[in-house]
Amino acid sequence: MYRIAVLPCDGIGPEVVDEGLKVLDTAAKIYGVEYETTTYDIGGDRFLKTGEVLPSSVLKELREMDALYLGAVGHADVPAGILEKGILLKLRFELDQYINLRPIKLYPGVETPLKDKGPADIDFVVVRENTEGLYAGVGGTLRKGTEHEVATQEAIYTRRGVERCIRYAFELAKTRDEKKLTMVDKSNVLTYGHDLWVRTFAAVGEEYVDIATDHAYVDACCMWMVKNPEWFDVIVTCNMFGDIITDLGAMIQGGMGVAASGNINPNGVSMFEPIHGSAPKYTGQNVICPVAAIAAAGMMMEHLGEAECGQAIDRAVAAALASGKLGDLSTRSGVSTTKAGDMVAGLVE
Ligand code: IPM
Ligand code: MN
Repeated sequence: MYRIAVLPCDGIGPEVVDEGLKVLDTAAKIYGVEYETTTYDIGGDRFLKTGEVLPSSVLKELREMDALYLGAVGHADVPAGILEKGILLKLRFELDQYINLRPIKLYPGVETPLKDKGPADIDFVVVRENTEGLYAGVGGTLRKGTEHEVATQEAIYTRRGVERCIRYAFELAKTRDEKKLTMVDKSNVLTYGHDLWVRTFAAVGEEYVDIATDHAYVDACCMWMVKNPEWFDVIVTCNMFGDIITDLGAMIQGGMGVAASGNINPNGVSMFEPIHGSAPKYTGQNVICPVAAIAAAGMMMEHLGEAECGQAIDRAVAAALASGKLGDLSTRSGVSTTKAGDMVAGLVE
């Protein structure tokens, strides 16, 4: 019996999470996976009412879960940063979810804006470091608001943090057909922090002689992702660059409506979520494509060791997308969030 914490949070989060749970319920019944969910009402509304962001009592309970399933964080009436740092980043850091796993996969039947590229060309995984770098929150402001203001924001990299991320990426590459790992960095400018990445990548790579390694600067990586996405199999990169290139990745795989992710602690509690945000202006309108959240539920099952159940969810997603009945996956697709969820659930077998 798995214990799954559900954190719908803000905006359209609750709507897409409902559809993910609908599909999960269907697949779990067929494959005999037993789980119980506990829903936590954290997010912008609770913050505005009580001032609480992530109460320590909630965090304590989350530590005991088998997995976390999150909707989206960000509220129109809450200043940017409070919920992002107080909920999402806090969970990633506190639960030491040091990998952010983001598959960039174009499913058949889904339109990509890339001319002459298809599912065979767009199929790679970004391994984003998830606990360090510019996200560490180190820095400060001096003489704020004056013309002599000073602001610093430092990127923190540790040998251990970088090494465990790179090692995870090599292990992942080992499981894939192409067996190729590309490191994306900016070591030509970040000659301290990313030099550590380059040296660690070379050192760990010596243990993985069967994996072909490659390197790209992040700016060039953005170019290749559009021009020759077929060059990529597994990408490993720092927190900030991973954040940026996976929004680009989401676009080439058909949009934010399909991009799923897992915040992984291989030895602890992991959290699964769609890459998209809370889209406040669409809240309650039943127009957001729930496929990313559904696919995240599939990733969660895979991670828990329920591969059959996870793959069944993935196949149902693929079948729904291939049918063309989900429209263009945008808010104007004409297919409601609930209808899309029903459709995927109906295709689980
Ligand atoms: C993501 C999001 C978050 C991030 C924000 C909401 C803090 O953009 O999961 O990619 O930057 O990691
Ligand atoms: Mn992002």
